[in-house]
Amino acid sequence: MIPLSVPNISGNEWKYVKDCLDTGWVSSVGSYVNQMEAVAAEFSGVKKAIATSNGTSALHVSMLLAGVKPNDLVILPNITFVAPANAIKYVGADPLLIDVNEHTWQLDVDLLSQFLQDQCTVQDDTCYHSATGRRISAVIPVHVLGNMTDMDKLLMLAVQYRLQVIEDATEALGTTYKGKPAGCFGIFGCLSYNGNKIITTGGGGMILTNDLDLAIKAKHLTTQAKADDLEYYHDEIGYNYRMVNLLAAVGVAQMELLPSFINRKKEINRKYTAALSSIQGFRCQKITEDVDCNCWLYTAVFDNARQLQRYLDVKGIQTRPFWVPMNLLPAFKQDIYYTRNDVAGSIYNQCLSLPCSTNISDKDVDTVIEAIQQFYA
Ligand SMILES: Cc1ncc(COP(=O)(O)O)c(C=O)c1O
Repeated sequence: MIPLSVPNISGNEWKYVKDCLDTGWVSSVGSYVNQMEAVAAEFSGVKKAIATSNGTSALHVSMLLAGVKPNDLVILPNITFVAPANAIKYVGADPLLIDVNEHTWQLDVDLLSQFLQDQCTVQDDTCYHSATGRRISAVIPVHVLGNMTDMDKLLMLAVQYRLQVIEDATEALGTTYKGKPAGCFGIFGCLSYNGNKIITTGGGGMILTNDLDLAIKAKHLTTQAKADDLEYYHDEIGYNYRMVNLLAAVGVAQMELLPSFINRKKEINRKYTAALSSIQGFRCQKITEDVDCNCWLYTAVFDNARQLQRYLDVKGIQTRPFWVPMNLLPAFKQDIYYTRNDVAGSIYNQCLSLPCSTNISDKDVDTVIEAIQQFYA
């Protein structure tokens, strides 16, 4: 069996976890949590990083602190893993789904611009959706598969239409746009360290921000909003969204390996593309020259993608279809979806992700390539 994307535990993970076990610092405070936050902030070029229990909780708290209120609309690409759409609902808002660009598969900023121009107005420093009168408070660019949209244009629109930018950079740790790391562009950036991400803590996440006051508030909200060192006095509704020291220890070790993981992901990416690009119908997402992509999960368009998936499955090669677009899911199908020709729908039907763990051998990559070539032969 060649798995899709599994953790690569090959550095100081055992050593640091043993340190936690030996010293008893296993729970929600400890030096590894502090180290993980410091390393994450430095790597992503932000002033502060707040460790969380996962990427979804990072998104939830970011939304609360960005001022997203019940009944607001929050702009989201229609192709995404479901977590940011759920987080929008957690705060009582609804996603406003925008189709993705057919080449990059990221939030289509030209389409968004058209939508804002045609269907929205700015009054009293606030953006409103004209047809419903609802406030649009934020936009979440999800850096799908580690790639990034045209951030310059997106940030310009955000200023023009008074939208907070919360980056879902969960898949893009190590990606840069014009030399700046994913996650540092908006009021908040969110990371995930779940098992299939480029580094993992088993489960974990991070809130990135350059705003020191918001960083304090984020720490406060993620730690049950305890407002007194001694007394159990909680001054608002808080959340138990902490990352535990034991997992942060894994994270610190994984961060040491991250540069080599990024290199390996890029290598795998090059190998697949070189070998598969002559197959009819094959197409990868476009990475513009502004983006240096971490190549997190190798995904391409294939003719008869579902049949190919079944064929590879029989051969013990694990693959994965793309996420079902948000507008097709029961919880979001009532929400606004703005599109010209449903790029999300067609990409979803044709895409397949291939095995690309950082510890996959070249031989296994060749086995996958040969199996795909056989299928088309
Ligand atoms: C785009 C995206 N957003 C959010 C998340 C949520 O992260 P987590 O699973 O850590 O909650 C993930 C990954 O799982 C993701 O791929």
